[in-house]
Amino acid sequence: MLTETKTKARGLADLPPIQSDSLLELIALCNADPRPDKIDVGVGVFRDATGNTPILKVMKEAERRLLDTQVTKAYLGSAGDKRFAELLRPILLGPHAEDDRIVGLQTPGGCGALRLGFELIAAVNPEARVFVGTPTWPNHPPIIRAVRLGIEEYPYYERGQATIRFEDMIAALEGGEPGDVALLHGCCHNPTGADLSEDQWREVVRVVSERGLLPLIDIAYQGFGRGLEEDAFGVRLMLDACDEVIIAQSCDKNFSCYRDRVGSLFVKTGSHEDTAKAMGHVFHRAREMWSMPPDHGAACAHIILEDPELRARWLVELDAMRDRINSVRQRIAAADPRLAFIGKQFGMFSMLPLSKEQVLKLRSDHAIYMADSGRFNVVGMGDDQLDRFTAAVVGALDA
Ligand code: LMR
Repeated sequence: MLTETKTKARGLADLPPIQSDSLLELIALCNADPRPDKIDVGVGVFRDATGNTPILKVMKEAERRLLDTQVTKAYLGSAGDKRFAELLRPILLGPHAEDDRIVGLQTPGGCGALRLGFELIAAVNPEARVFVGTPTWPNHPPIIRAVRLGIEEYPYYERGQATIRFEDMIAALEGGEPGDVALLHGCCHNPTGADLSEDQWREVVRVVSERGLLPLIDIAYQGFGRGLEEDAFGVRLMLDACDEVIIAQSCDKNFSCYRDRVGSLFVKTGSHEDTAKAMGHVFHRAREMWSMPPDHGAACAHIILEDPELRARWLVELDAMRDRINSVRQRIAAADPRLAFIGKQFGMFSMLPLSKEQVLKLRSDHAIYMADSGRFNVVGMGDDQLDRFTAAVVGALDA
């Protein structure tokens, strides 16, 4: 007798609810708050003294030129704008720019580059463990889990003391096996603002190369920390020492073109042939996921970087963003000795030693929106909000 097997078709309604991304949730909460004096120091976008996220003047000029000169919007292929990736090479790779063992492609933002980098690792070594600092950008672990790689945490930052837990970090990385991955922040550490010193980078590079780890460096804020060249120190040192390096890069911040999603992935192996093979896999994965990256922002960055006059203007505007970040840091640091550490850190973020309850109280009592972890964007507010922000934070620290 035949038995009838019935498999119950599952509908979309059967999906379990999912925890939404905490940063995206924070943006929505802040947007919904009707209080006119609310302060949004949650998401990482640069805001100027008036509280706006400006489109760079040089970007506007590049957009005008693009509009006037672009004659087709035909497909470019999975690598996107190849000249864009070429123009980034000296900025990111410095003396390694001519190394033909390093090949890059355009990606949808730094996030796309990260996903693609981890896809490549999962393709070659699905058993690899990814060493991830705690804390890190909240979207790192979900991306790693999405490609089914295992995560090992390494201690990175002691929030109460505002110090890097360097010895613990090194000890954890020493436990890595060849083929495991060390995820590192190139500069302007997100969420802490605590960057490795040059000596600390040397030590990390030593462990990574001695243990045979594969470094994946996420560099999303080049130019926002010490300077465009200085911020690439770790990337270049790693390239000096290691045959295999993966770099996920973003232009979203340093070109202030966040929603245009402009990034790139660079892959280095021991030979040009092996890199070409690896890039075959990269193109394949990119094709599966987004087929081709969006063009507009990268096309504008290409125009800027290709033209010496526009490039010089971009550097001036980038320097101005960095100067603002650093001067706001100094102002907050001067408000209270307990905030002095903020003046010694880099990039847009810092982490306040506040409990989740204190963060929520700042939200309800003062309409100040920061991540539950105490991470805040130092240039999230306009100058007119700065004193109110520091007074509320100092009040929370006193409580
Ligand atoms: C941030 O950390 O706030 C930014 O990188 C934006 C994002 O996508 O999370």
